[in-house]
Amino acid sequence: MSAMKVIGFNASSRKKGNTVTLVETVLKGAEENDAEVKLVNLRELEMKGCIACEGCKKELGKCVQKDDLSPILEELVTYDAIVLGTPVYWFHVTGQLKMLTDRFYCYFSEEIDPETAEIKFDTVFPGGKKFAVVTSRGDVEPAVLFPELYEHLTEWLKMMTAVMGASSTEFITHYGSLNDKDSAENDAELIAKAKSVGASLV
Ligand SMILES: Cc1cc2nc3c(=O)[nH]c(=O)nc-3n(C[C@H](O)[C@H](O)[C@H](O)COP(=O)(O)O)c2cc1C
Repeated sequence: MSAMKVIGFNASSRKKGNTVTLVETVLKGAEENDAEVKLVNLRELEMKGCIACEGCKKELGKCVQKDDLSPILEELVTYDAIVLGTPVYWFHVTGQLKMLTDRFYCYFSEEIDPETAEIKFDTVFPGGKKFAVVTSRGDVEPAVLFPELYEHLTEWLKMMTAVMGASSTEFITHYGSLNDKDSAENDAELIAKAKSVGASLV
């Protein structure tokens, strides 16, 4: 049997920060269980935003934009599990992760029946993939300022993996980094959790 494939995205602007530490640990957990793993540092890619041209609706899965994300979007369908890792920037995911998830639009189409107002979704993205979501933030938990925005972020991330047809979604949440880039690495419990989530993806 061929090895399970797991891909991890690091959407931090830092090459060596908390997010990548946790994403790499998840991937290590999967690799130790014989998965084939790949890490993508989004900060290293030339990425263009979705231009809402709707070109992908003529041929689902084919994004018109040509950049470093193009081959990744094409091969993403072949992975068994996907790890999305992002720091929290202004109570949301980073621009790099948003750029990636906006491009996921190429996998889907939506039609509204003018008579019944029923929405019909179509997708070429194979369902049933396992997801892990890594977030790292400076603020402690519970948050003092705008806690509802963090709840919204969690709901948004759940929506994103649900839309991608996830069979399961595990959250690895790092609080209180206070901008220290080694903070996750020094949290043995969180590292152990990331490792076991990685193993569970296989
Ligand atoms: C532009 C910017 C915006 C940020 N906004 C928030 C925020 O809204 N809430 C928060 O808790 N931390 C915020 N932070 C802190 C980061 O989330 C935190 O340092 C995180 O641990 C960084 O992860 P990394 O080490 O993987 O880069 C922000 C940092 C930057 C650079």
